[in-house]
Amino acid sequence: MPAVVHVEPEAAGFRLGTGTSVTGETSAVAEFTALLTARTGSTASVPAEGNGEVRLNVAGSGPAESYRLTVDADGVEVEGADAAGLFYGVQTLAQLLTREDGGWTIPAVRIEDAPRFAYRGVMLDVARHFFSLDVVEAYIERAAALKLNHLHLHLTDDQGWRLQLASRPELTERASAGAVGGDAGGFYSVDDYARIIAAAAARHMTVVPEIDVPGHTHAVGLAYPEIAADPVIDDAVRATAEQFGGGLPTAGEAYTGMAVGFSSLRIGEAATDRFLSDVFGELAARTPGPYLHLGGDEAHGTAPEHYAAFVRRAVEIIAATGKTPMAWHEAGGASPLPSPIVGHYWGFRRAEAEQADAAAAIVAEGGALVLSPADAAYLDMKPDADAALGLTWANGPTSVERSYEWEPTAVLPGVPESALLGVEAPLWTETVRTLADIDALIFPRVASAAEIAWSPRPTPGSERTWASFRARVGELGALWRAQGIDVPSSNEIAGADA
Ligand code: ACM
Repeated sequence: MPAVVHVEPEAAGFRLGTGTSVTGETSAVAEFTALLTARTGSTASVPAEGNGEVRLNVAGSGPAESYRLTVDADGVEVEGADAAGLFYGVQTLAQLLTREDGGWTIPAVRIEDAPRFAYRGVMLDVARHFFSLDVVEAYIERAAALKLNHLHLHLTDDQGWRLQLASRPELTERASAGAVGGDAGGFYSVDDYARIIAAAAARHMTVVPEIDVPGHTHAVGLAYPEIAADPVIDDAVRATAEQFGGGLPTAGEAYTGMAVGFSSLRIGEAATDRFLSDVFGELAARTPGPYLHLGGDEAHGTAPEHYAAFVRRAVEIIAATGKTPMAWHEAGGASPLPSPIVGHYWGFRRAEAEQADAAAAIVAEGGALVLSPADAAYLDMKPDADAALGLTWANGPTSVERSYEWEPTAVLPGVPESALLGVEAPLWTETVRTLADIDALIFPRVASAAEIAWSPRPTPGSERTWASFRARVGELGALWRAQGIDVPSSNEIAGADA
């Protein structure tokens, strides 16, 4: 999981013994040993030198992130084209561990595997609720084990600003304490952010930080009232307050409700421009990955002509740092943009005309797209109507089957596969407070996103079918549970779509 590109069953498999040795690249040996211990409850011996029976090495050639895995009666060999490929091969190997006759075996196979898309992401919204470093690290581990390689952090929203900036310390001093429902907030210090980046890098994940502007910025007004417009209260904001509580947003007061689209920065002010330059400049300096996400979604409190001017300026500022701007697809409506961007599509599986036009404009200007169709890839939608956690606005509930049954090239007709950078599964956290809550919503649907992003598109006879996926998810339950993840049993995974 995700389905591999090519697999051939071989003859007799490999039996792990107490003396099984694991050799090769140090971090891969550590990763496999940890997975083996979690799954089997014992530790393979790791000799200081010499060839062992499980060999984990980097070949230094082959497609990026690819690996080969060979198991026969004499042992196991995993060869990654690069360190990431080796890491993914080790994850596949751990999934193959099988309990048999009171011992542990690995079935004989020859696997060659490589990703379909370069960008395979998950998002965590740390603004609606704040999550500790331990939880972020657990989220990274879960995602990386499924060969996902980008961690998008939604760091700011109306409810809180979660990233400490040396250039703008007031943001976390004045605007990080709260969260949805009046829960405790928090923020990542300069050091914490570096630790998240390091934890992600150790698992071959690139951090994509998002500072959402010009909307979703009520919290900015707690620190800098002079650059925040007054909340725009429309019927949708009132309806959300009535349905979910939290009251109506008030300028200068922390917002703990779940409404969206009421806040905006003041556009065209010199102070707003300095704010953007400081924030994205510092973020660029502290982020090793190539992307800075500027949000740009649901700016209903911003006049359309102001929105276009603002997005162009934000794109210009980010591009000047040397990073590639990334933005939710609405930013395409501001085209022509001063430089190509990565558009982040969050419409439904069947794009509406305005969304398709915005996405097409981004591609036409030399940009690329990451797809997160909200009615399939949003992990915060309830998996079924009775689920305790989650929302339903995205054509929900989103069954496991629906999360699996979509094809990236079918979402935006006319956009060629070459313009698709990849796929991301976002987790918004209005209803999510703990790691157990995260697990309850992301498993097993995060595996759907991983398979769509990694595995070849379905062909007749391939493993890229709902029936195969469902069976493989069921088999993976034992490994997930051994790692402390509380996942539904396979017969609890709803087979029928709503
Ligand atoms: C979004 O769901 N507002 C990107």
